[in-house]
Amino acid sequence: MKAFAIAVAALLATGCGGEEPPRPAAASTTGSAAGAIGAAEGAVLYGRWCAACHGATGHGDGITASRLDPAPADLASGAARGLTDAGIDAVVAGGARGTGRAGVMPAFGNTLSPWKRRDLVTHVRTLQRAAAAAAAAAAAAAAPEGPVAPD
Ligand code: HEC
Repeated sequence: MKAFAIAVAALLATGCGGEEPPRPAAASTTGSAAGAIGAAEGAVLYGRWCAACHGATGHGDGITASRLDPAPADLASGAARGLTDAGIDAVVAGGARGTGRAGVMPAFGNTLSPWKRRDLVTHVRTLQRAAAAAAAAAAAAAAPEGPVAPD
């Protein structure tokens, strides 16, 4: 988590304008330093391209959400949890029109390279894990007799 925070800080410090060099296919391997950078890039890309609609934590509550019909999907705890990585990528690349969905989900296939979309999928999975952890913590708090989480 610390490495993740450092990577985010480094990315923010260097900015995200201009052309980025291509990254090797193995760069998003989880658990590696390159994986941490890929995850951090996913967070930055999400903030730039997705959060206005889907919300910073992915619950479909971005600043534009109340004006959209249908509302942006809850990526963190909604049906998106059941999508495969390729399924999420297909929605991001093809948008609502490309995947038979309603509404204004834009197509990012021309804007975001495959590896950027892969980093976005990584970040969507991170949001889903965070939402599941928050739900589990809330359930545990509501049920004092429930199982105790290991330290
Ligand atoms: C202009 C607002 C808007 C932006 C920006 C946007 N989305 Fe969406 N997105 C939507 C809406 C609205 C839907 C719901 C479409 C529907 O239900 O028919 C959706 C649906 C989705 C779904 C399908 C979820 C499901 O449960 O089937 C995924 C995945 C998704 N968006 C990911 C993203 C990602 C990742 C980004 C950033 C690259 C992004 N979206 C940017 C509005 C947006």
